[in-house]
Amino acid sequence: MACVLQTLPCRKTVSLQRDKLGMQKYFRDAIDKMEGYAPGEQPRRAGGWIKLNTNENPYPPSPMAAKALNEADPAALRLYPDPECRELRKAIAGVYGLRMENVLVGNGSDDILTIATRCFVGEGETLSTLEPSYSLYPVLAAIQGAECRAVPLEKDFSLPADFAKNVSGSRMVFLARPNAPTGNSFPKDDVSKFCADFPGIVLIDEAYADFADDNCIDLVSEHLNVLICRTLSKSYSLAGLRLGFALGSEGLVSGMMKVKDSYNVGLLPQLIATAALGDREYLAEGVMKIRGTRESLSSALSGLGFDVVPSQANFIFASPPGGEAEKLYRDLKDSGILVRYFPGPATGRFVRISIGTGEQTRDLLATIQKMF
Ligand SMILES: Cc1ncc(COP(=O)(O)O)c(C=O)c1O
Repeated sequence: MACVLQTLPCRKTVSLQRDKLGMQKYFRDAIDKMEGYAPGEQPRRAGGWIKLNTNENPYPPSPMAAKALNEADPAALRLYPDPECRELRKAIAGVYGLRMENVLVGNGSDDILTIATRCFVGEGETLSTLEPSYSLYPVLAAIQGAECRAVPLEKDFSLPADFAKNVSGSRMVFLARPNAPTGNSFPKDDVSKFCADFPGIVLIDEAYADFADDNCIDLVSEHLNVLICRTLSKSYSLAGLRLGFALGSEGLVSGMMKVKDSYNVGLLPQLIATAALGDREYLAEGVMKIRGTRESLSSALSGLGFDVVPSQANFIFASPPGGEAEKLYRDLKDSGILVRYFPGPATGRFVRISIGTGEQTRDLLATIQKMF
């Protein structure tokens, strides 16, 4: 026994470096220091909840997507999928009047954001964004060992006038438009001017743009440094499929293709997404329903004394009378309704509520009415 102990001279040093899981010594410093991304709650108990916390779409995906899934040949899964996703990229290019070479597809738009960070922001360099905005952005910078500069939005969540000055020197800017979790948009002219003047990459994250009055797709053809990022998770009701894409100049896309995992989009997502993208009518109808519910929920909550940020997305950001948003979040959860609460000085007075079906919205409002 004594002999065994003698063969472990490093043991003491190793245990000094351990965290409580005993893993600390293995990780890069950047990973050790960072907090991981905290996704919205996905309840284990499926039924019983009105789930309005992760901006999923309450309606089913297009029947064309269901048909593609049903008709898929299991035998085809034996082979790797097309690494270039040509059919899907052609379908996306067709929707936006671009060429396949302008389209990169990914395993959700989170994958696109990861690829972009790896491509454009080196260790020790700066990635800029806004605060509050999508909380994955600082996590991606941290993984890369890069600095994240988060420029505060104005009190009403509008773009600060000195935004361009504040992000100067950064390699890339992530700009969510409409923004999350606030739901508002930024004037397109300001964004366009910023893209023209900024020397680095501007990635405009349009995860929610199908629900908005306008978008920045045309900036792709005007500026070589612009990437637009889209997802099928929201407007196409396909969050579980994991399909996102970037639109950009041919040079940007071909460089990003070098960095993506070879088979980052599986065979089934390629088939189902191609089918769903073809059903423009279904998309338009779904978006119209969500926008209608968004407007009626916004005005009902305003009527109850909530401060509601004008939304261009499939969710609203609203502050209850008195500002006790955390209490509202907990009380709603106790009533079986999940919304999202983001603590912090800029966001702590608000809850973010995804737009549900008409029936879910009526239940939500009836519950809130009893509280205020
Ligand atoms: C602004 C923004 N971008 C990207 C995403 C990620 O979407 P995906 O499901 O395509 O990874 C989200 C998800 O909520 C988001 O809010």
